[in-house]
Amino acid sequence: MAYTLVTGEDFGTLALKSLREAFEQARKFPLVVLPTGNTPKELYLRIRQQGLGGEEFQYLNLDQYHGIKFSDPRSYPLEIKKEVLDPLGIGLRPDFIFDAEAPPDQECCKIETAIEKDGGIDICVLGIGENGHIGFNEPYSDFKDRSRLVRLAASTRKANAKFCDPHGGVPQNALTLGLRTIFEARKIILLTNKPDITAKALHGRVWSNIPASILQRHPDVTVVATPRVAAALRLAA
Ligand code: F6R
Repeated sequence: MAYTLVTGEDFGTLALKSLREAFEQARKFPLVVLPTGNTPKELYLRIRQQGLGGEEFQYLNLDQYHGIKFSDPRSYPLEIKKEVLDPLGIGLRPDFIFDAEAPPDQECCKIETAIEKDGGIDICVLGIGENGHIGFNEPYSDFKDRSRLVRLAASTRKANAKFCDPHGGVPQNALTLGLRTIFEARKIILLTNKPDITAKALHGRVWSNIPASILQRHPDVTVVATPRVAAALRLAA
């Protein structure tokens, strides 16, 4: 597959450089997806320290636990607001955020309509789960899936317990952009510190058991990898 591999010691700086390059290639006021979790933290620190080069963008929510309020400490869009949007002075638009208390079908339809009206996703930044999930598209998600309500895998709930346990635990279900929705993004930046699953996803069989393997079919993927991941990718190539 033809992805661009970016690696080195300073993960946050490399990720910021890749994101800035993506902004340079994108249209003005692009539609941008940002992930939460551990992996992007160094990128968000660099964004707060150095900015994004004055770029304005429309933030699109990647995923959100079902049934919680936007203001809940477990809320993913709230985390992005605090870590990235507020420091850059960028506002949120409800059309582009899953309201996890509203009927799921209505919310998924709202998000898909907003993406379409806006002209599609320009830049989709992703992390990867140990089971190969992207967003909350767990193993056996269909490559044709659009945004929807999903049941979280037991391993995902276990991995996220450290963030959620002090605030009422990990919800059973979540709303997520679908694999098809993500795949249609013009540019994908995968941030990864997980050697085995990343090598499997990017060089193994393309199938729904490893949702991130869909990225092998995408024409414009940049992988920002820690040196250990880069070594695993080179071995697998
Ligand atoms: C979070 C998300 C997830 C994470 C993945 C990796 O918004 O969509 O797919 O990117 O679970 O999480 P970390 O970075 O915490 O290892």
